[in-house]
Amino acid sequence: MVSIRDANVEDLLAMTSTNVLCLPENYNPRYWLYHLVGWPHISKIAEDRFGRCVGYVLAKIDDETNDEKIHGHITSLAVARTYRKQGLAGRLMRASMRSMREVYTALYCSLHVRESNRAARTLYERSLKFERHKLEVGYYGDGEDGWEMHCKLRDEDFGLDLTFEDLSGPPGTAPIVAKRVTTGASKSSEEGAASRSADPAESGEGAEAADGGGVNPDLEPGAKDVAEAKSMKADASAEAASGSGDAGAT
Ligand SMILES: CC(C)(COP(=O)(O)OP(=O)(O)OC[C@H]1O[C@@H](n2cnc3c(N)ncnc32)[C@H](O)[C@@H]1OP(=O)(O)O)[C@@H](O)C(=O)NCCC(=O)NCCS
Repeated sequence: MVSIRDANVEDLLAMTSTNVLCLPENYNPRYWLYHLVGWPHISKIAEDRFGRCVGYVLAKIDDETNDEKIHGHITSLAVARTYRKQGLAGRLMRASMRSMREVYTALYCSLHVRESNRAARTLYERSLKFERHKLEVGYYGDGEDGWEMHCKLRDEDFGLDLTFEDLSGPPGTAPIVAKRVTTGASKSSEEGAASRSADPAESGEGAEAADGGGVNPDLEPGAKDVAEAKSMKADASAEAASGSGDAGAT
C-alpha cells in the first residue's frame, strides 16, 4: 500500500535521496525548502507501508500576485524504480494539481520535460492531457531541448466548485466573498486537500467574513510560512539564476 500526503520540511532528506537516485537535475536543500515552506500544500510525498519515500512531486506557484496569470509549476517529479508503472506518478500529479487549484486558485499547471523522456511525456500528454506550449532549445544542463507543457486546471476536473455568496452583515459593510465547496468524490482519496471543509466557520474564508471581514491570523493557512518564504525568495532566485535552481528542472 502506498499513501500520498502533503510533503513538509521533515521529508527533505527522503525526497532529495529519491531525487538523486532518479534524476540528473538535483537542487540544493535551500531550493527544496523554498518550495516546501513557500507553498506547503502542493508538494506531495508517496510513502510505502513502512513510511519510506517511494515518490514525490515538488511544486511551486508562479505569478501568484497576478490573478490572471497565477499558475502552478512542477519543479520535479520522480517515482522509485520498483514502484513505477503502477499509476503512482499520475496520482502524485493529480494530488498536486488539485491543491494548486483549490488552495491557490491556479489557472493552469506548467512543467518542463526532456524531449527524450518517453515515460514522462506519456504520463503528461496521454494520461494527464498536458499540451505542448513551446520547445526550449538547450533547456537542460547537458544541452537537450525541453518541452514546456501546460495543463488547464478546472474546478470540475477535481470535484471542486467555486460559488460566490454574499455573507455580508449590515447592508453595504461586507464584501461578497468567494467560498469554495467540494462537490462529489475527489479523484484521489489520499489528497490532503480533499478534506478541506465546506463549512465557512472551519474553512478560513468564511470565517473571515463571519467576523466582519477581519483576517484571523490563526485561520489563515500558511501565512507565516509564506512570509518566511518571501524572505528566502530573493536568495533562491539568485541561486536558480546561477544554475543550481530551476534551470534544468523536470
Ligand atoms: C516518469 C515517471 C515519474 C513515471 O512514473 P510512474 O509511476 O511509472 O507513472 P505512471 O504509472 O503514473 O504512468 C503514467 C502513464 O505513463 C505511462 N508510462 C509509464 N512509464 C512508461 C514508460 N517507461 N514508457 C512508456 N510509457 C510509460 C504509463 O503506461 C501510464 O500511461 P496510461 O495512464 O495511459 O496507462 C517515472 O518513470 C520516473 O520517476 N522516471 C524518472 C524521473 C523522471 O523522469 N521524472 C520526470 C521528469 S519530467
